[in-house]
Amino acid sequence: MERTFLMIKPDGVQRGLVGEIVRRFETKGFTLVGMKLMAVSRELAEGHYDVHKDKPFFKGLVEFIVSSPVVAMVWEGEGVVAGARTLIGATNPLTAAPGTIRGDFGMDVGRNLIHGSDAVETATREISLWFKEEELTSWTPSL
Ligand code: CMP
Repeated sequence: MERTFLMIKPDGVQRGLVGEIVRRFETKGFTLVGMKLMAVSRELAEGHYDVHKDKPFFKGLVEFIVSSPVVAMVWEGEGVVAGARTLIGATNPLTAAPGTIRGDFGMDVGRNLIHGSDAVETATREISLWFKEEELTSWTPSL
């Protein structure tokens, strides 16, 4: 089954939006298979955003991610990579559609509340970067 990596960034945690954000993925029907609140090391933040290392915002982005705890998660479901991106909305919250997480709660591209993997291959890389295999639980909702 397809999996994606999601990270509620420091602004999402500090603004008390963890429950609201998790609720949106749960009620959509995706399955939570891993979750942890964690302080992020500089090495992990830089590795995660390696693709942006030459961008002018890279340094500030890394500083922000290591500044206070994030919630790292893995979600499972058919089409979950693209489906999660749809629920999250456009990168810039100012242009993100109402009804999306960023569209409803964000104002600033550098404080856009949540990261979601942009492709299945990226999800595989990000999940193995952030989680050990034993931290993930495969289960099928049956109730
Ligand atoms: P994310 O989905 O985590 O992927 C890369 C991040 O870079 C993005 O969300 C934004 O938070 C950040 N980002 C992208 N463009 C800019 C920008 N122009 N200024 C600051 N941060 C940016």
